[in-house]
Amino acid sequence: MRIGIIGTGNVGASLGRAWAAAGHEVVFGARDTAAAKVADLLQSMPGKATAEAVAEAIRASEVLLLALPGVAVGELVRDYRGDLDGKIIVDATNSTGQPEMHNMTLLEGTLPKAEIFRAFNTLGWENFAQPMFGEERADLFYCGAAGDARDSMDELINDVGLRPIYVGGTEMAPLLDNLTRLWFTLVFAEGYGRHTAFRLLTD
Ligand SMILES: NC(=O)c1ccc[n+]([C@@H]2O[C@H](COP(=O)([O-])OP(=O)(O)OC[C@H]3O[C@@H](n4cnc5c(N)ncnc54)[C@H](OP(=O)(O)O)[C@@H]3O)[C@@H](O)[C@H]2O)c1
Repeated sequence: MRIGIIGTGNVGASLGRAWAAAGHEVVFGARDTAAAKVADLLQSMPGKATAEAVAEAIRASEVLLLALPGVAVGELVRDYRGDLDGKIIVDATNSTGQPEMHNMTLLEGTLPKAEIFRAFNTLGWENFAQPMFGEERADLFYCGAAGDARDSMDELINDVGLRPIYVGGTEMAPLLDNLTRLWFTLVFAEGYGRHTAFRLLTD
């Protein structure tokens, strides 16, 4: 798949690295494509990856991962709604301190033809870089569109090395935000390290 990643920070870099290694074509959307940290990132990528202006990365991609501050999503979506609509949009952002950490209402209201997912928000990025715990791989709970787009999302999560666990449509995003709050509590209040993830056990 051609995956545009808006944001070249911890989340964008760790997921981009995994997807490039799995053979996807990664295009980072950066505000400053000439920045040294962007050059370093591209240098460290195991597969095909480029950095473009945000507008170009959006236009070039079938899937867009939002890996920028949650408060910046509104402006991004308003500026590029024409190019974003109709694509697979993955919201990994957490608007911490806001009543809702996700952007489902905004995304669905602005991009009626897009296939929207809430994923990669519930765990620290270290778990994307290292999804295995001994022999066990961590689970990634996510929600969003059904159908073919969901198959693509399962593939992208598997390609990171996580096991995808679908919990329903975008209306389930508040449930996932509570899982994020559980992760925050374990890591920031209870002293668990950032390499902490969740695993569903069932017969
Ligand atoms: N850190 C985690 O473990 C984690 C886990 C799950 C979800 N999240 C969420 O994922 C998002 C990214 O987290 P992160 O840790 O990767 O953040 P980060 O390391 O601070 O990186 C943020 C990136 O967003 C870019 N950016 C900021 N404003 C932008 C704008 N208006 N347009 C385009 N790009 C913009 C920054 O670009 P510049 O370099 O130009 O500033 C930077 O590349 C956040 O919403 C966070 O809450 C984080």
